[in-house]
Amino acid sequence: MAEKILVTSALPYANGPIHLGHLAGAYLPADIFSRYHRLKGSDIIYICGSDEHGVPIMLRARKEHISPQVIVDRYHELNKKSFAGFGMSFDYYGRTSSPVHHQTSRDFFRTLARKKVFVLKKEKQLFDPEANIFLADRFVRGTCPVCGYEEAYGDQCEKCGSSLSPSELINPRSAITDAVPVLKETTHWYLPLAEFQKELEEWIGTHPEWKSNVLGQIKSWFNTGLTDRAVTRDLPWGVTVPEDVAREAGVDASGKVLYVWFDAPIGYISATKEWAEQQGNPDLWKDYWQDKKTRLIHFIGKDNIVFHCLIFPAMLMAHGDYVLPDNVPANEFLNLEGNKLSTSRNYAVWLDEYLQKFDPDALRYVLASNLPESRDTDFSWKEFQARHNNELADVLGNFINRTMTFVHKYFGGKVPEQKQLSELDSQLLTMLEQAPDKLGQLIDTFQIKAYVHELMNIARFANKYFNDKEPWITRKSDMDNCATTINLCLQTVRALSVLAEPLLPFTAQKIWQMLDMGEKHQWQEFMKSELPAGHSLQEPRILFTKIEDDAIEAEVKRLKQASPGEAKNEPELIDIETFGKIDLRVAEVLAAEPIKKSDKLLKLQIKVGTEQRQLVAGLAKHYKAGDLIGKKIIIVANLKPVKIRGQESQGMLLAASHDDRVILLTVMEDIPSGSPIR
Ligand code: MF3
Ligand code: ZN
Repeated sequence: MAEKILVTSALPYANGPIHLGHLAGAYLPADIFSRYHRLKGSDIIYICGSDEHGVPIMLRARKEHISPQVIVDRYHELNKKSFAGFGMSFDYYGRTSSPVHHQTSRDFFRTLARKKVFVLKKEKQLFDPEANIFLADRFVRGTCPVCGYEEAYGDQCEKCGSSLSPSELINPRSAITDAVPVLKETTHWYLPLAEFQKELEEWIGTHPEWKSNVLGQIKSWFNTGLTDRAVTRDLPWGVTVPEDVAREAGVDASGKVLYVWFDAPIGYISATKEWAEQQGNPDLWKDYWQDKKTRLIHFIGKDNIVFHCLIFPAMLMAHGDYVLPDNVPANEFLNLEGNKLSTSRNYAVWLDEYLQKFDPDALRYVLASNLPESRDTDFSWKEFQARHNNELADVLGNFINRTMTFVHKYFGGKVPEQKQLSELDSQLLTMLEQAPDKLGQLIDTFQIKAYVHELMNIARFANKYFNDKEPWITRKSDMDNCATTINLCLQTVRALSVLAEPLLPFTAQKIWQMLDMGEKHQWQEFMKSELPAGHSLQEPRILFTKIEDDAIEAEVKRLKQASPGEAKNEPELIDIETFGKIDLRVAEVLAAEPIKKSDKLLKLQIKVGTEQRQLVAGLAKHYKAGDLIGKKIIIVANLKPVKIRGQESQGMLLAASHDDRVILLTVMEDIPSGSPIR
């Protein structure tokens, strides 16, 4: 029986265009996977859509003095269109502003409320008295309690990566009016994630096959311990909290909406419902979401891991009616010419702009060859040009073109007959016969880069085969041999067109037309039949035209201009004098204790030579206070003192960070505190 698979890609926020980073993370791999399974005959649907709620969309709308609806309408259409231009084969592209989605999300919330899953908390939150609005998430800015960065957001510090809540910010300001917020009482629903930790750990334990970058992040969340997460907000934009639920809880629902990360993943379900409706079978969505046999696969970028591997699964567990994800093959990040992509600085390659200048398959190929599957990777325009010209055009394109030209020139455009096979002929045929399983296996286990590599190996081998068999010579000396060579080359062209379809759908289409193959192409089966001798072929078409230097230089230049001033292309270099201004010292930890009402901060008493000092550091999630005592650490000794949570911090300690982990720096051998570091 056909395998049943439900594929999703993270719903992109409809507040800006899609860029290369998005494509490499959550979209291209999912599309390759889905196209492969369709060719294989799996029962697969691929679902995506726009994520249209959340504070960034509201901020954007305020900046442009228009309603959030105008923003999301604009980017929903734009992104839907550019995805199509890139060949994304969604079965359905929904949006979270749709009525079906609002209904589905409210029902989901209601079910959890009825099951008494949530905890209600009454608390004081920041409120902007001028704009008359609670300051959730990105509506508030202030100084980061962990690193001192003054422009941290209420949900996250972009400097040090700490996740924050608005009340933790020092000197908070409203992002709307710049007013100093006041505290005002409000009530919210919380998902008590800690109660799910055991069940989540057991479930994750059944998936040792998940990618190690994903399991690593999950493990560090488990080590830290899951905590309550608010799933409602006081905001005027979003899915409103169901009145009946609020009434039963004795809470005034007005002005309350579901948190965007609560409703967005439910968007996968509501989009599937809308798809089913469109199929004329409104219940069809249940076949996927409620059948234990479904393989549910979420393609995402690494910043979404916690939501797809822990929070959404906890919601699904609590609800009870749905399957859990079978895999979440999250990718790391793609950088651009050595720098992080940045929407706000316009430092990115936007898909809609790309498509006005180049072909979609060129980008699909280059991105897929270089996906950040296990570590961050870099996209450069030079490499784009080189891979396109030297690999797509010179290897794949060249082989197909010389074969097609030859058959038209010397065989009247008809497939010649296969005669006696030499050893080299059989070797090529064996390679083709094994390819579907081998390549399919790689795609099915999310090793997309390896699939691309193997695919190109076939094209490389085929080019060499053409050279070695010298049909331009055997044409005069040994016609049977020549016919066999060209027959096998054509079988290879056909095989390549099927095997490359998930990666290069537009090119595959062109090859099918040249071969006049009709419509049906099956991954597993195509090697069992062959292009019959005598079959007429269409005229050859050029598949890839070389990309010239000036086209590439224009792109590089645009990027250089996009990142002026501070955030430059090249990392800023400092001289030794500047470095010398920083007084780094060894210090010994004498005492450590948590800071009240903060789950992130520790207060340390340290000894620096003869001097004793106090430090406040964001270590509580990573170290137990007691474990630090006696440790020799490294501090910046001449930092201006700051007050954090009312506590003076006289310096800063050094720590290394990776994803969510923070590791304290220390010395290799014992050395007295106060020793300078140089
Ligand atoms: N909009 C989110 C982002 O771009 C992703 C949402 S994924 C979903 O990071 F599961 F919530 F839909
Ligand atoms: Zn910070």
